[in-house]
Amino acid sequence: MADEEWAQRGIDVNTPSVARMYDYYLGGKDNFPADRVAAEEILTAVPEVRIAARENRAFLDRAVSFLARAGIEQFLDIGTGLPTRGNVHEVAQKITPGARVAYVDNDPIVLAHARALLRGMWGETTVVSGDLRHPERILDAPEIHKHLDLTKPVGVLLVAVMHFITEADDPRRIMAALRDAVAPGSYLVLSHGTHDHRQEAAKAGVRVYERATSPLVLRSRQEILELFEGFDLMDPGLVWLPEWRPTDLPLHDEPSRALMVCGVARKP
Ligand SMILES: C[S@@+](CC[C@H](N)C(=O)[O-])C[C@H]1O[C@@H](n2cnc3c(N)ncnc32)[C@H](O)[C@@H]1O
Repeated sequence: MADEEWAQRGIDVNTPSVARMYDYYLGGKDNFPADRVAAEEILTAVPEVRIAARENRAFLDRAVSFLARAGIEQFLDIGTGLPTRGNVHEVAQKITPGARVAYVDNDPIVLAHARALLRGMWGETTVVSGDLRHPERILDAPEIHKHLDLTKPVGVLLVAVMHFITEADDPRRIMAALRDAVAPGSYLVLSHGTHDHRQEAAKAGVRVYERATSPLVLRSRQEILELFEGFDLMDPGLVWLPEWRPTDLPLHDEPSRALMVCGVARKP
């Protein structure tokens, strides 16, 4: 669809969207000039953002595979992003045919592309418009309940999305609402940008995202660790993306170049 057609459908093509900028880092085509200008500004200041995005997708793949092998058959993926290679249902269904995935995002373009891609797979996947800042609305949505049985363990995926939640939106409240809603034996998969290292690069990233659809809120390792409260963090704990149960060689020999830390945890 041409840019003007998206604009006519009420999509804001002039404000850089965090979803479309990420699509650009990954080499995708679902982005507009304003997204590309903002993304290029970041890449000039912090070239390893491209590596970070790819390492993040690789972590998502390993974590979903791990959960599927642990017996998780249903996934709640909040902050899904634009469809790309290795979508959650594809990764999970390689191990568990019939695994169910509810994709949730607040960006209308993500929803439109995801719905187009998943047409014909409605038994196993669903795409729901929802905002992580209001987890109770996501958890109460009839589409979610029709699709997932929250009395059974579920894999909750918050991958590269909590760093778009400001302190004013109370990240601890959001995490508690999700934790309390899922059954024991459920898993949390989380990755998050940190400013513990490379503070100049972090500042440049934060500056550009000020004009995007969401500000970028980088946190310390300790603050990110606290988001796992009430869950048992699995080995190897909270680590740089390429350090989480690697199966391939990292894209860079310095793990902190991945800019994000990640972890997988289980609700006891
Ligand atoms: C960097 S992308 C990550 C995509 C995917 N989870 C991954 O890691 O590959 C962040 C996604 O979170 C979504 N997002 C940001 N803030 C959100 C919110 N408050 N509620 C729901 N989705 C949100 C964006 O629209 C975007 O699709």
